Amino acid sequence: MQTVHGIAELRAQVAAWKRAGERVALIPTMGNLHRGHLRLVERARQLASRTVASIFVNPTQFGPNEDFAGYPRTLADDGRQLGAVGLDLLFAPEVAAIYPRPLADMTQVSVPGLSQLLCGASRPIHFGGVATVVAKLFNLAQPDVAVFGEKDWQQLVIIRRMTADLDLPVEIIGVPTVREADGLAMSSRNGYLSAEERAIAPTLHAVLHAMAEQWRTGERDYGALENTAKARLAAAGFRPDYVEIRRADDLQRPEPGDAALRIFAAAWLGRARLIDNLAVI
Ligand code: PAF
Repeated sequence: MQTVHGIAELRAQVAAWKRAGERVALIPTMGNLHRGHLRLVERARQLASRTVASIFVNPTQFGPNEDFAGYPRTLADDGRQLGAVGLDLLFAPEVAAIYPRPLADMTQVSVPGLSQLLCGASRPIHFGGVATVVAKLFNLAQPDVAVFGEKDWQQLVIIRRMTADLDLPVEIIGVPTVREADGLAMSSRNGYLSAEERAIAPTLHAVLHAMAEQWRTGERDYGALENTAKARLAAAGFRPDYVEIRRADDLQRPEPGDAALRIFAAAWLGRARLIDNLAVI
């Protein structure tokens, strides 16, 4: 596996592959990799003949009081893991390469509406930062296909919308969430949990699972389902941000007869803000 830090090196390698008729897949990440990320690489290898992963802790998707400074940076270990699963190229740029000027002076991508819902309500700048950096990564790596985890379902929906709206020639593939044996969705932020919090954390998935079961058995009072779930989370020691049933494809509130629905949740546990989502039908 080759590691490059510069944009010119990335472009040169991808251009050589394209000239040779190779199909390129991109896996954008912020590093501190876990088995969920490695699953993305495995999926990308099924979809393309060459795989590129990016590791870039993107400052523009963190709010002023969020964990940008403390976000775990584990490049050497990440590189070893990516090499072991057969990645071809790791792109790990410096912040100045991606944002040569302050963001306020740079072109930005925003996906209105979708970016203000759910996580966007409490993280107002987050999805603008994600859309901007992913658009830049697509332009830099010129992938035919890009692979994202379904744990960040809202992000996946926003990236699909951005790609369609900007006519970017990139196929977007979602990969199901990888979970620990006790149901906890894998996340780099799970590392923030104390041993006591780690024992509580699977309750988030359990609560969503119970809610989905209630839905399947005929309960249709969204408000009651959501309030019960939030109360269960609070009783377990979480500070719930939201629990909401939404349409899977456009994240809007369901209408009677809508088929593909998902439950979305975010809740704080200690200093970790955990998110999860689950299909209800
Ligand atoms: O999901 C992530 O790790 C990030 O939001 C992404 C897509 C790499 C953009 O920084």
